[in-house]
Amino acid sequence: MISLLLAISTLLTSWQFRLEPSAQRPDVDTTWQQVSVPHDWAISGPFDRSNDLQEVIVVQNGESEPTWKTGRSGGLPWMGKGHYRTRVNIKKDKFYTLVFDGAMSHADVYVNGEEMVYWPYGYNTFDCYILPHLITSDSVDIDVYLENKPQQSRWYPGAGLYRNVHLVETNPIHIPTFGILIRTPKVNKHQARIEIEVDLQNGVDSTSAYKEGVKVITDILFNGDVVASATGQRAIAEVNLPQLWSPETPNLYTARTRVYREAKGERQEAKELLDERETRFGIRSISYTPENGFQLNGQTRKFKGVCLHHDLGPLGTAIHRDALRHQLTLLKEMGCDAIRTSHNMPAPELVELCDEMGLMMMIEPFDVWNHGKTENDYNKEFNEWWQRDITNMVKNYRNHACVMLWSSGNEVWNQVLPDGIEIVTKLQDLFHQLDPTRPVTNGMDQAMHVIHNGFGAAVELPGFNYRTGRYEEAYENLPQKMILGSETASTVSSRGVYKQPAILKDFAVYEDHQSSGYDVEYCPWAGLPEQDFQLQDDYSWTLGQFVWTGFDYLGEPSPYDTDAWPSHSSYFGIIDLASLPKDRYWLYRSQWNTKDATLHVLPHWNWQKGDTVAVFCYTTYPQAELRVNGKKYGKLRFATAEETERLAKGEKIAGVSQMPQVGEFVVPEWGSAPRPELLPRYRLMWFDVPYKKGKIEVTAYDENGKKVAKETIRTAGKPHHLEVIWANEQENPEELCYMTVRVVDKKGRLCPNANNLIRYEGDGFVAAANGDAACLDSFVEPQMHAFAGQCTFIIRKHSKGLFRLVNE
Ligand code: GAL
Repeated sequence: MISLLLAISTLLTSWQFRLEPSAQRPDVDTTWQQVSVPHDWAISGPFDRSNDLQEVIVVQNGESEPTWKTGRSGGLPWMGKGHYRTRVNIKKDKFYTLVFDGAMSHADVYVNGEEMVYWPYGYNTFDCYILPHLITSDSVDIDVYLENKPQQSRWYPGAGLYRNVHLVETNPIHIPTFGILIRTPKVNKHQARIEIEVDLQNGVDSTSAYKEGVKVITDILFNGDVVASATGQRAIAEVNLPQLWSPETPNLYTARTRVYREAKGERQEAKELLDERETRFGIRSISYTPENGFQLNGQTRKFKGVCLHHDLGPLGTAIHRDALRHQLTLLKEMGCDAIRTSHNMPAPELVELCDEMGLMMMIEPFDVWNHGKTENDYNKEFNEWWQRDITNMVKNYRNHACVMLWSSGNEVWNQVLPDGIEIVTKLQDLFHQLDPTRPVTNGMDQAMHVIHNGFGAAVELPGFNYRTGRYEEAYENLPQKMILGSETASTVSSRGVYKQPAILKDFAVYEDHQSSGYDVEYCPWAGLPEQDFQLQDDYSWTLGQFVWTGFDYLGEPSPYDTDAWPSHSSYFGIIDLASLPKDRYWLYRSQWNTKDATLHVLPHWNWQKGDTVAVFCYTTYPQAELRVNGKKYGKLRFATAEETERLAKGEKIAGVSQMPQVGEFVVPEWGSAPRPELLPRYRLMWFDVPYKKGKIEVTAYDENGKKVAKETIRTAGKPHHLEVIWANEQENPEELCYMTVRVVDKKGRLCPNANNLIRYEGDGFVAAANGDAACLDSFVEPQMHAFAGQCTFIIRKHSKGLFRLVNE
């Protein structure tokens, strides 16, 4: 007989919350509120310039004088102290562990008034026991005190118990948090070797006497069938004909580990089941070599990745699987196959979804080591905490198939300091001790130094942030003979806003606080997508790239960060804060999605009489022709690599787009000069097209000159009604529905300049956003102005309501 005494993990969702007075916020309302965790106490606002006003020098942006920065961390009230409390039922003969997936920040956890754990870094998972002597009745009180300090972050960090909290009930003899390790060190198409290590603990007795008679069995399951088994705390299982994991085939196995106790002489069936856990993993091989670059299952590929911050736009940082799934679905459709968690530990749900949906991951814990970028960031904790933080992170995620590499940090100052090599080596050693199967990179931005000062050579797998003009120098000088684009592009744009003429500009600012939707503007330290496409296409020693960023995020509103309130969210995203793709989405799609055809034309066709307009086309087809109201403006094809060199010399090449013009540029010594000649290789561009109301048509042709597709954009009339599209319907969300609301004319055409107020009347409203980085509409009121004709409402599934166009 098997007695079923299994681990039971419960999500602690029901808490009371209040703010507590702090030096920063002495007069807060301290009334207790009932909240549901995950909970972000700051996302409801209100936005205010004073929330994160800072006089600082942002050295990594090349600044040398302090300036007033606004909106740098989202303009939301995330600083201060918060207190959460809850009461949970417990049983006297059981053992309890509390697991926090992340708590923002400086978490101090008490049970029945006794401190159990303190964990300062807000992004990491940590746990604590509810010590047995506290279990005196059938419930315990849990209090969590949090504190977000001023100048703790250079983006919106969120605030509170923004990730899940688990109460895990076990027997005293149990498998602890992170107690199972699974590796697949030998994989070929016939067989895979699975190494399993299981840690056991006795929560009430720290001697090892309890291990007597304890037996561990791990079954390996695929699609519910047991395909292999192994016995022991350290065991090896062999799986025949393994179904390999890759982004294209995200096959997952499950290891079911059971811990039994058998009393001597008793019959086999009399064993007592002490603990049981399921661990999902994938079977795949990875390697990084100068000869073959990065290989997954023996196939060379390059990362087509994006960097992601952890906030979910209008939902703030409160984690939600539906929101993450929607982000990943959009990215996958673009052809993206990898995510970099910049610059902190992700939520477990993100890693699980990447496993399930097929996205590779680079996980990066830190933005700083012991030299800060803001006064109270992790620099204050690093020396004391880096070992514990790396340990929890690696143990938490090392069983996941999707994780392809770790990063030891982003643009840390130590790159150029005397202790840099020592620290990077120590960190890498710890990563390898915990996980010998994956390499460690580092996102370096000080290319001109690290190539020659030994730091770049000490990084196991050199990652460069930007500095495309220095890749060849790095390749020549560094011993690894491989370069990863750990962070690329930082192109800025606003969805649906097009600045004429379409010319390359750095740090361009406009009165409307928007950046051009033509994808021709960037920050001085950065570049345009083409610079990275070219490096990835032309050099076998590049390993791929992670674009800054997949989605817009709260905070860091460059180029509008120097006292440019109300800008308070980023312009870098390929997709905006309302989860609506910008045009750049189709530029990446045309290069990355090799399955589906792309034909995308911009801009809209609602201009003023007499305007001249640039028309761009992002496509997988080799050539296309533009017509405006039937009049032909020429057929264009993509320039070859060799032709771009001729274009750079000023040559005009028939049938190929001209280079765009270059506006005023201040290229710092460490930056990359503009490369306008590269654009005709990846975009079709017609400049100076005279505007006339009506329609533009772009017809695509195949290699043989056969018409294969057509895209038409028509001039829209006045706003007439709303069109509502359920954007994540196919994803079958558990709870959150993303509704795209479009202002359209009488004929159903998107009104590209409409900014009407849209109101939701009904139940189940959760949040709304429009992607305008300078709009101060609250995310938590059921109304939102349209931006470039569109906005997004997030509504609970099975709600009833309607959207109204308010004509202002
Ligand atoms: C990088 C940095 C990112 C972000 C980005 C903006 O230097 O690593 O966190 O600040 O610049 O372009």
